[in-house]
Amino acid sequence: NLPAHVKIVEVGPRDGLQNEKEIVPTSTKVQLIKMLVSSGLTVVEATSFVSPKWVPQLADAKDVMDAIRNIQGARFPVLTPNLKGFEAAVSAGAKEVAIFASASESFSKSNINCSIEDSLARFRDVVSAAREISLPVRGYVSCVVGCPVEGIVPPSKVAYVVKQLFDMGCSEISLGDTIGVGTPGTVIPMLENVMNVVPIDNLAVHFHDTYGQALSNILTSLQMGISTVDSSVSGLGGCPYAKGASGNVATEDVVYMLNGLGIEANVDLEKLLLAGDFICKHLRRPPSSKTAVALSRI
Ligand code: HMG
Ligand code: MG
Repeated sequence: NLPAHVKIVEVGPRDGLQNEKEIVPTSTKVQLIKMLVSSGLTVVEATSFVSPKWVPQLADAKDVMDAIRNIQGARFPVLTPNLKGFEAAVSAGAKEVAIFASASESFSKSNINCSIEDSLARFRDVVSAAREISLPVRGYVSCVVGCPVEGIVPPSKVAYVVKQLFDMGCSEISLGDTIGVGTPGTVIPMLENVMNVVPIDNLAVHFHDTYGQALSNILTSLQMGISTVDSSVSGLGGCPYAKGASGNVATEDVVYMLNGLGIEANVDLEKLLLAGDFICKHLRRPPSSKTAVALSRI
C-alpha cells in the first residue's frame, strides 16, 4: 500500500548547511540550489531568516534569495522563527515560509529560546501575517520521537503540537526526528497518534540518520500513507542545538529506494549525485550518501 508519487522536500541548503562551522560562500550555496533544481527537485528549502548570532552560516539569507529569484521550476521555502524573520523573508522575495516548533520543552528552549506555548503564540502571528498575503506556511515539529535532554517524547505530546500548527493554518506539517533516534518501533505509534488529529495528506516526515534508521522509518511512513519526505543532498545536516544529531537522510538514497519501489519522484539521480559531489568538494569531504559510495564517486 505505497503512494504512487512521493514529493521530496530537499533541505540540504538549509538543514544541510546550517551546522557547518566554516562559512560557505553565497555563490556556492546558490550553485548548489541550481544543481538541485536541475536534478528535478521541485521544493528546495533555501535558507533561514533566523538570528545570525544563532546560526551564522545562514546570515546571507537575503543574498541567497536575491540570487535565486529567477530560478524557474521549484519552490524555495525558508525558515522564519518569528515576525521579524517573516518580514525579512517576504522582503527578500520568499513565497513560502516554515515555522518550527518542538514537541520537547527543553529542545524548544535551546533551539528558539522560548517555551512551546510561547512559540505557538509567536507562530500564530507569523501564520496570520502569511495568510493576509496568501503565503503557504509549513510547520515543523522537532523531537517527534526523542529529545537530546528529555529522552522519550510521548506521541500524545507530538500530536498536540501538530494539531496546534494545523489549526493555526499550516498547510503541511513535517515531523522531525531531530536526533535520529527513532525506529519503526517508535515511529509507528507516533504516526498513529498524529494521523488521528491531522489528515495524512498534510503530513511530511523528516528523518535524521544518526542510527542508520532513516530509510526504514521512511518506508514505514510510506506504508502508512505519508507521501512527502524531507531529505538532504549527500546526507548533510544536523541541528546546532541538538548535540549528537547527525545528518539528514541523503536525498540520493531516498531516490534510489523510491526508484526501486517504482515510486515516481521525478529526480534524475545522476544529476543529483553531481550536486552532492559539488557541495562535498566545497566542504572538503567525501560524498556520504550510500549511493555515492556504492557508485565509487569518492
Ligand atoms: P532570542 O535571542 O530569544 O531573540 O532568539 P530576541 O527576540 O530576544 O532578539 C535577540 C536579537 O536577535 C535581537 O537583535 C533581534 O533583533 C535578533 P539585537 O537587538 O540583539 O541586535 N533577532 C533576529 N535577527 C534576525 N532574524 C530574526 C531575528 N529574531 C530576532 N528572525 C530566535 C530567538 C528565535 C531569533 C533565535 O533563537 C533563533 O534564531 N533561533 C534559530 C535556531 C535555528 O535556526 N535552529 C535550526 C533550525 S530548526 C531545525 O534544524 C530542526 C528542523 O530541521 C526539523 C528537525 O530536524 O526536527 C526544522
Ligand atoms: Mg532537521
